[in-house]
Amino acid sequence: MDDVLAIRNLSIAFSTDYGPVHAVRGVSFSVPRNKVVGVVGESGCGKTTVISAAMGLLANNADIEGGEVMFEGRNLLGLSEPELREVRGERITMVFQDPMTAQNPVISIGRQMVDIQYRRRNLNKRQKRDAAIAMLRRVGIPDPETRIDSFPHELSGGMRQRLSIAMALMMHPALLIADEPTTALDVTMEGQIIHLLRELQAELVASVLFVSHNLGLVAELCDEVVVMYAGEVVEKGTCHDIFHRPSHPYTRALLDCDPARVLERTARLPTIPGDLPDLHEPPRGCVFVERCPAALERCAGSPPREHTLGPTHRASCHLLDVGPAARN
Ligand SMILES: Nc1ncnc2c1ncn2[C@@H]1O[C@H](COP(=O)(O)OP(=O)(O)OP(=O)(O)O)[C@@H](O)[C@H]1O
Ligand code: SF4
Ligand SMILES: [Mg+2]
Repeated sequence: MDDVLAIRNLSIAFSTDYGPVHAVRGVSFSVPRNKVVGVVGESGCGKTTVISAAMGLLANNADIEGGEVMFEGRNLLGLSEPELREVRGERITMVFQDPMTAQNPVISIGRQMVDIQYRRRNLNKRQKRDAAIAMLRRVGIPDPETRIDSFPHELSGGMRQRLSIAMALMMHPALLIADEPTTALDVTMEGQIIHLLRELQAELVASVLFVSHNLGLVAELCDEVVVMYAGEVVEKGTCHDIFHRPSHPYTRALLDCDPARVLERTARLPTIPGDLPDLHEPPRGCVFVERCPAALERCAGSPPREHTLGPTHRASCHLLDVGPAARN
């Protein structure tokens, strides 16, 4: 398999005054070359924690308890900070929910975009500036020759997010990670940014790891989908597998039994009765047992194993133990 990123058996805990929070447990999934993979799940499911680990950007109180994050043949979890810095920002780049996280407010857009290209020793400053203008134009920022000399805060929210994308793609990374990149935007701008990402991904032959609450956007943008619940991957597969043949009760609850609903761009996660389990003490059996309408007796006592349902379709649920007849 030609995977750009492969996360294997990743477990992360945060230390807190009330003891460790076991935020991510045994997470495995990959991002194939030139594909867009979406990670979806309710707030607090561990989406940001997983991708922060991949970028070496975890909070200080995080402890990586096990697993690996393989990228271009190296385990990123074993790299030193200088080695990671080389990967981050060039081979892997990020777009955040709040564009200001990535943009320096007191340095002009042009200077920031020229600085990103510091490794391009064969180009002079003028050429780097021209490359930056071309990229600003490509992401749809009007009048880039003038805009390049302004500051990020002088742009509107949607334009700032376009700028983030331009900066993230400037050095042609192998992987772009986007964590809720459109959550702060209105629906029209959200749609525009998603289309832009899809176009640029195809044009620049990059892989994208896209994290979102919004199943509609995931359905529109992604080739493959990873469903997380309470720190675990409960189901993963192609977009078609997840939206048309969901096999885990949590995925089904998210889809609310009606895939057509979430395919609308504005659809948000429906509310599922109940709360996430307390991750100080994750359940012994299935993580979803307290909210699962289909729970069996064995679900509370033993964790379900991962079942293979198709070439890339996997789900972890005891309902799958007993064969296809019991699945529906
Ligand atoms: N620095 C931290 N210290 C303690 N707990 C943390 C820390 N960061 C995250 N957590 C906890 O880890 C769990 C996973 O959080 P994470 O932010 O990864 O979820 P998420 O899926 O990205 O949620 P959202 O959709 O709201 O962004 C949550 O229970 C959260 O409270
Ligand atoms: S293992 Fe049991 S509790 Fe968990 S999702 Fe499947 S049926 Fe529900
Ligand atoms: Mg998050």
